[in-house]
Parts: sequence; structure tokens; C-alpha cells
Amino acid sequence: MCGIVGYIGEKNATPIILEGLRKLEYRGYDSAGIAVIEDGKIEIRRDVGKLINLEVLVKERPLSGKIGIGHTRWATHGAPSARNAHPLIGEKGKVVIVHNGIVENYLELKEELESEGAHFNSDTDTETIVYLIERNFVKGVTLEEAVRLSLQRIRGAHGIVVISNQEPDKIIAARIGNAGGVVIGHGDGEMFVASDIPAILEYTRKMSFLESHQMAVVTRNHVEIKTLNGEHVDVKIDNIAWDPVAAVKGKYRHFMQKEIHEQARSLTDTLTGRVDFDNNRIELINLNMDEKKAKAIQKIIITACGTAYNAGMVGKTMIETIAKIPVEVDVASEFRYRDPLVDESTCVIVISQSGETADTLAAMEEAHKKGAIVLSIVNAIGSQAIRAADGYISMQVGPEIGVASTKAFTAPLVDLYMLAIYLADLRGTLTEEERSHYIYDLRVIPDIAGKCLKREDAVEEVAKILKDVHNILYLGRGINMPIAYEGALKLKEISYIHAEAYPAGEMKHGPIALIDKDMPVLAIIPKDQWYDKMLSQVEQVKARGGTLILVATDGDARAKELGDYVLWIPESPWLLTPVFTTIPLQMLAYHIAAIRGLDVDQPRNLAKSVTVE
Ligand code: F6R
Repeated sequence: MCGIVGYIGEKNATPIILEGLRKLEYRGYDSAGIAVIEDGKIEIRRDVGKLINLEVLVKERPLSGKIGIGHTRWATHGAPSARNAHPLIGEKGKVVIVHNGIVENYLELKEELESEGAHFNSDTDTETIVYLIERNFVKGVTLEEAVRLSLQRIRGAHGIVVISNQEPDKIIAARIGNAGGVVIGHGDGEMFVASDIPAILEYTRKMSFLESHQMAVVTRNHVEIKTLNGEHVDVKIDNIAWDPVAAVKGKYRHFMQKEIHEQARSLTDTLTGRVDFDNNRIELINLNMDEKKAKAIQKIIITACGTAYNAGMVGKTMIETIAKIPVEVDVASEFRYRDPLVDESTCVIVISQSGETADTLAAMEEAHKKGAIVLSIVNAIGSQAIRAADGYISMQVGPEIGVASTKAFTAPLVDLYMLAIYLADLRGTLTEEERSHYIYDLRVIPDIAGKCLKREDAVEEVAKILKDVHNILYLGRGINMPIAYEGALKLKEISYIHAEAYPAGEMKHGPIALIDKDMPVLAIIPKDQWYDKMLSQVEQVKARGGTLILVATDGDARAKELGDYVLWIPESPWLLTPVFTTIPLQMLAYHIAAIRGLDVDQPRNLAKSVTVE
């Protein structure tokens, strides 16, 4: 989704901004632009499509200035085009803006401005903001005041960054609500502004984050943060420890493939500092949970979007089995508007890779309003979903660049498993023997994940066979039912093949009518308590002539007989099987898309971080 980068200092802002935008490409976008102040004038270059188009434009018509802002846009109002790309400039050419978010009352504002004689040059909602700011500014107030006054008029959630040739020594950045973050990077005689950490991590690790309804005045040597009411806010500087090298593709063709292969390591990393194998204990320090709070929980609701929601469905079985607390799982975009039954005895857990998903953040707000304890499981350090939670578990998997989430799906499965043990322990419902047994099982994760990854060639062979199919039906049951959903989601996201998932027991209630020789069925049948039931479902498919792809446990002779193709996984503890059944499905989706020659890391219409509704 939209990305923002800004620079002020002694260097040429253009290459720094373009490089920063490149680091944000993974978020997904359809146009890009840059504005710098050059010799007292605002110069803008914008183009539709990939960043390379903008780079070519900048080569043809170079830009240099010591202050500038850039943007990658994911269209909401107005088609993707150079005309609608950001930065957008005011009518008098004195103020220029980049913006993430949607101006909910933009029609009303546009009509008002038009009635006062304004002519709009784009179809965007953003232009109304810059027109408002400029109109306030030319009345004689400071740029900071003009931004503040204007933001009071717009509804919705926003991240904005503004510069002006009339006050060329500062960048003004502001955040309202949850339309993505605004982070300020502190350099030496230079400062950076961005929507996301990776854009500026190369230059500084010292970062400050704006909260909702805060704005920053950023000069070369100083950062001042205030609320939108003008109250002073202490500037807190966090030191970000991520290694930017982790975001390089290395020997892999795509980031997605690299991230799939990182899972043996990322699954180890997510255990690090949390599991004490010597004393059989789980420690989740940042959760801020104690015995009293844990014992007061009557119900857990897990809420999230997309892949993270699928992880939540696995978490339900884990928590209900280990901690014996009832768990509901809800899609965040539904939860936020459903007036859910939540009170002080409810613990709401959100899961989010980016920590900036608008629906998930709104669900957190709703839960807080109703008095619940709100916990989050998040990958992006410093993101809003961490800051707005009462406690959190960080996934610790490093930046995920591929739009299709992989390592940020398997890590929360393990986090939820650890959380279940931790809560059960605090509530005193686990015997010593049970705790030892559950914790012991965590040891095998990196090894089994590594073994699954080594089987990539076999999965690729199956991908070659399936590459031209038009549909696939994914079936699973019990704790692997959500993995059917996750496998189908991965396939449709990156290969554009229609894939549908069903709890296998539902087959007979409808989807079985679809089965014929043209409908391949992928069934997940590890050796767990649902195995026999799954087998009978698989037999029914076989009887109707469907091609069968099975995910099965090594040595399963029945699977070998029944399946046209089998993706094998090593034997594993049943509560953790989803971590391993997922891996061949990620690889299958990846190879099908790669063979079809598609843009695996940036699939069409998708964004890495969905900061609008
Ligand atoms: C799927 C995918 C999306 C995200 C969803 C939530 O591969 O990436 O379905 O899982 O948009 O995003 P986060 O986890 O950032 O809240």
C-alpha cells in the first residue's frame, strides 16, 4: 500500500528518496512520484507503473535539492495514472504533499473548495488536503499552523508529509488514526521521514514514531513533536535492531522463495528468549500478563485478516486444547462493525505481520473501548499494533518482503502454541508432566521444518503438472482445516488460479458436486486424530474421478495408494502439524506461480500492508 519517504539535510534528496521508495516496493503500488525544493521552486516528477518509470523520468529531467518527499501510491480515489500520483501540489505552487489514507469527507470538501473557485488537477481525495493547507498558509499563518488547521477539517485516518518552498527548512509530518505509520529517522545533520522503517534503515537506526493525532516539525538538526492541539510531546527515540541485509534476495529467485526457506531459522528465532528448555518454562515478558489477569479471562477472541486470520483459526485449537479457554475467531473487518460481545473478562488477541492493517487496528480500538485486554502478535517492531496493545509477542522473523505471507504465518502458529502454554501455566491448569511434554515438542520444530524444505524438488515436480489447472479444492480437518484455507489463499494470491478451501466434513453438503476429472483436490491428511475421517473423504473424491494431491506423513502406505501425487512431511506432534503441512503448500503455490512466469513477490492488486478499509 502507499509508501512515503522524506529527506532534509545536506545531501541530494533525490537518490535517498528513490532508494527509500524502492525499499517500500514490497508494499504494492501502482504509481510513484517525488518532489524536491530546487532553487526556491517545488519540482515534481511522477509516473504510473513501477518505480523504474519514475527513475527514467528523473534521469531525463534530473532533480536536485536538499529537501524532498516521495511516494508510492496504491490507487483508492482516481485511477492509477501520472496525474493522480503523489506528490500533489497546491494551486499556487507553494505547498506539496504526500498522503496515505482516505479523506472520508472529500466530496464535501471538494464541492466547498470548488464553490470558492478551486480547480482540481487530479481525481484524488488528497488534493483537497493540499488545497486546504495552501489556502490557510497564504492567509499568513505558519506552515505548521496551516497543516494543523487543515487536518481539523478532514475525516478518516491519515499519514501526511508536507513541504513548502516558503519554509524550505522543514518537513511537516502528521498522523491521524491508523492509515499507516509515520516514522522519523534521526541522522547527523539530516533527518528522514517515512511510512515504514525499511525505507530509511540504511541511514539510521534511531527512530521516533508518531502516534495518532500527533504532528512533527522536522528540520535538519531537530525534531519537535506536538499533538494536533499544539501540546508538546517528548520525543522518544527507539533503536531499531533489524538487519537490512536480511532483506536481500541472495541466491533465491524471489523473496517469497527466500522467505519460505528462512522458516527453519525464523521458527528458531521466534522460540528464542521465550522457551527455557532446561526448566520447562515459557516466558513471554512483553505480554504484561500475570496470574490475576490470566485467571480473570473467560473468553478469548482472536481477530485478524487474511493469512493472519488463518493462523488465528489454528490458535483456537491450540489454546482450547492446552489452556482450556474458549476461543472465538473473527475476521477483523467483521469484528469491528459487529458490536461484538466483549467485556473486561475478554482477552482479544490480534495477529498482524505489518502491525498496520487498518481493519485489525480498528478491531483493537473496538476491543479496548469495550474494556477487553488486548494482546497482539506482530512482526513489524514499532508498529501501531504493538504500541496500541496491552501486551504483545513479536514474531521475530525479520522483514517479510514478498506480498504473500509465509514465514509470518508459521511464526504466529508457534507463538500461539507458546501463549497457550503460558496462559495455562498462569491459570494453574497444566500439570508438570503436560507442560514438559508440550515444551519438549517445541524442540523438534526447526529440524522438521528443515526436512520439509529439503523436499522442494518433489513439490516443484507436482507444480509442473498442476501449472495449467483452473481450479483446485483444498480440504482439511481439525487443526489442519485452516491450513486448507491458507494453502488455497497462497495459490490464488500469486498464481491467480481459483482455489477454494473447505472443512473436509462439509464436502457432502455441497462441494462434492464439483468433483470430476477436471477438479483436482488437495487433501491434508497427516497422522492425527482426524486421519481416518480424512481418509474416508479422500476415498469419496477418488470414487468420483478427481485428481488427488495429498499432504501426508512419511510412510503412510494408504496415502501412497490413494494419492495421484503425495507431498510428504515427517511425523510430528499433532498440535504442531500445521507448521509443517503449510510448508509444502507454500512451495506448491510458489512454484506454480513461478512456472507461470508471474510477479510472485508483487502479485497484481495486492499490497503488503493494507492500511485502508
Ligand atoms: C496473504 C497476505 C494477506 C495478509 C493480510 C493481513 O499472504 O499477506 O492476506 O495476511 O492482509 O496482513 P497483516 O498480517 O499485515 O495484518
